[in-house]
Amino acid sequence: MRTIRTIAELRAALAEPRRHDARIGLVPTMGAFHEGHLSLMRRARQDCDLVVVSLFVNPTQFDETADLVAYPRDERRDAALAAEVGVDLLFAPAATELYPDGFATTVSVAGLTDRLEGAFRGRAHFDGVATVVTKLLNIVAPAVAFLGQKDAQQVLVIRRLVRDLSLPVTIEVCPTVRERDGLAMSSRNERLRGADRARATALHDALLAADAAVRTGERDAAAVAAAASAVLDGAGVETEYFELVSADTLAPVTEIQEPARPVLAVVAARVGGTRLIDNQMLTTDRQATGLCPGRAEPEARAAAGSQVS
Ligand code: PAF
Repeated sequence: MRTIRTIAELRAALAEPRRHDARIGLVPTMGAFHEGHLSLMRRARQDCDLVVVSLFVNPTQFDETADLVAYPRDERRDAALAAEVGVDLLFAPAATELYPDGFATTVSVAGLTDRLEGAFRGRAHFDGVATVVTKLLNIVAPAVAFLGQKDAQQVLVIRRLVRDLSLPVTIEVCPTVRERDGLAMSSRNERLRGADRARATALHDALLAADAAVRTGERDAAAVAAAASAVLDGAGVETEYFELVSADTLAPVTEIQEPARPVLAVVAARVGGTRLIDNQMLTTDRQATGLCPGRAEPEARAAAGSQVS
């Protein structure tokens, strides 16, 4: 695997494979790799001739300076992990490479970014994500980009900008990878200590409670959310939101009419000083399997086609 720092160098490295019609895959990341990231890279490896992973802690998407400063960084470890799963190119630019002096353009996706994460983190968060992802897609020009379902709103925002800006890329969404106790893998989990680590499973437990309520016949979204909120409150975490929303538009739903209108349960909570998010598609099908695939070994989940965020 080769580590590349500049846009010019990366474009040069991709020119020859592109001439030979190589299928190029991009996994955009901010580093601090965990099994979630690695599952995206493995999926890209299976699906593409050439795999590019970007590693860039994007300053413009952080709403709190303290969060940006505390964001875990270990490029040497990340590079070793990426090489192990067969990544070809690691694009790890300096901030000045992506945001040179005088940088003045912002990609902003209206509507989808107002609620949920947008409301709690501020619109600037998704402007930062949309801008850097647009740049990465332009720089790498991949046939396919791989994203994790854990950041469900981010996925919708990126899908929308790809559609609206007519970018010639397919977005592949891979499942959330979970720890054995159900906690969704996240680079922020490293900050959880002691009792907070145990309490953090409340997000997944709340999603399970919502799912159980729907499977046993509850169709009123407020009642489902109340069952989930009881779990979060009982665990003593600071809930920012737990909502049932349209999986396509993120608009709030009042009544579950799945499968005609797929419903996503979304949650954000602070556990100690750490902000965590998670989500789960809800199904009225009592027989369906694969719900909240946590509590299994990552390898087993990967084999079962489960996924990451
Ligand atoms: O999900 C992330 O890690 C980031 O938001 C992304 C997509 C790499 C953009 O910086």
